[in-house]
Amino acid sequence: MISNEINNGINGEPSIPGDKSISHRSIIIPSISNGISEISNILKSDDVKHTINAFKSMNVKIEQNNNKLIIYGKGLNSLNKPKDYIYLGNSGTSARLLTGLLSSQKFESILKGDQSLTKRPMSRITDPLTKMNANIKTSKGKLPIKITGANLKPASIELKLPSAQIKSGILLASLNTLGKTRVTEFKVTRDHTETMLEAFGANIDIKKEENKKIINIVGQKELISKNVDVPNDLSSSAFFIVSALINNNSNITLRNINNNPTRNGIILALKKMGAKILIFNERLNNNENICDIKVESTNLNGCELNQDFADLMIDEYPILAVAASFANSPSVFRGLKELRVKESDRLKLILLNLQNCGVNCKSIGDDLFIYPSNKFEIKKNIIKTDFDHRIAMAFAVMGTKIGPLEIEDSEAINTSFPNFKNEINRLGGNIS
Ligand code: S3P
Repeated sequence: MISNEINNGINGEPSIPGDKSISHRSIIIPSISNGISEISNILKSDDVKHTINAFKSMNVKIEQNNNKLIIYGKGLNSLNKPKDYIYLGNSGTSARLLTGLLSSQKFESILKGDQSLTKRPMSRITDPLTKMNANIKTSKGKLPIKITGANLKPASIELKLPSAQIKSGILLASLNTLGKTRVTEFKVTRDHTETMLEAFGANIDIKKEENKKIINIVGQKELISKNVDVPNDLSSSAFFIVSALINNNSNITLRNINNNPTRNGIILALKKMGAKILIFNERLNNNENICDIKVESTNLNGCELNQDFADLMIDEYPILAVAASFANSPSVFRGLKELRVKESDRLKLILLNLQNCGVNCKSIGDDLFIYPSNKFEIKKNIIKTDFDHRIAMAFAVMGTKIGPLEIEDSEAINTSFPNFKNEINRLGGNIS
């Protein structure tokens, strides 16, 4: 894919797909509830298809009907042993959440992923599950893993790493576990799982104390099916927001965007950089904050973000780094250790690709420093993505300003935003 420079800005209303995190949960939780759930606006992407196929392979009936997904829930304990291994492609969320859920089922299952997912750490989820008596064999802490379903025992688990995937895996395991499981987190992570479990009638109690959040779940209470209307994805919106900010003569409006305070760091960070972003029509939908967003071209300032921001926007650093490359002063983003274990080593690829685009930047430890200037002396206009969708989209946005940039392995974008190229082009982009 080649992203070319544009002159007339990005304008209009992009069509943003459904939220990826909520889409996964909108398949998993209804599949183990009692009754029928209708899911609207689910993200149609490779990652989500893998979660759907996983549940179909465990005999959950899932139908497509007029743009809605109809899920016939089987209850907490009635999934069937899949005939074959479950293949999860590139999807870390599916892998961590399903490991939790399947460890409390009564059958054996095997989870596999693509090359990139197979390199990502799984012991962060299998270790706490082992404390609950789970029986899981990993391949040196990675996929493929073999889960021998067991009667789990409840435990009190403190989250060492701020990770919604780990928290969610444990919560899903506890649903089918007799007794009270407690999860304590010391840093904010996205809360879609607990929000949805409350709505589906789980016996869940959430307390916030000074520096921590404590979630108690009493297991083996059946869930009751509900319809879900998936809001649009803020992480996918970020690529449009930044393309409008950095390109002159731009003005866009994004509708029905999830503005969950546990993951809206990108909006706070860009506002700190002086971005002309207006959040309006704020409302609640299934207990998720939703809003519309207007964005105009802005001469951004650089900014310094401490590690707390990383917890609120870990997926958005690739596109934030692109924004910071066009600011009128330097930026420092601190505490990006987790970026190294995402769909790629994102810190490494941000540095490599920015440097190839002629941006002066460096990392010290886990901190990223960007020193923008008006001149971009491109050293190499081929962007290495290691099949990472967010690196590919971030540098496609970079291309709208300094292109042509050739984005390698751009089919990775299908992981979260299959229509990205068409939408950018519809609003004034020039990606071929
Ligand atoms: C996700 C959680 C985050 C995020 C990922 C989706 C989720 O990962 O990076 O894209 O849906 O729970 P961690 O919780 O591991 O940080």
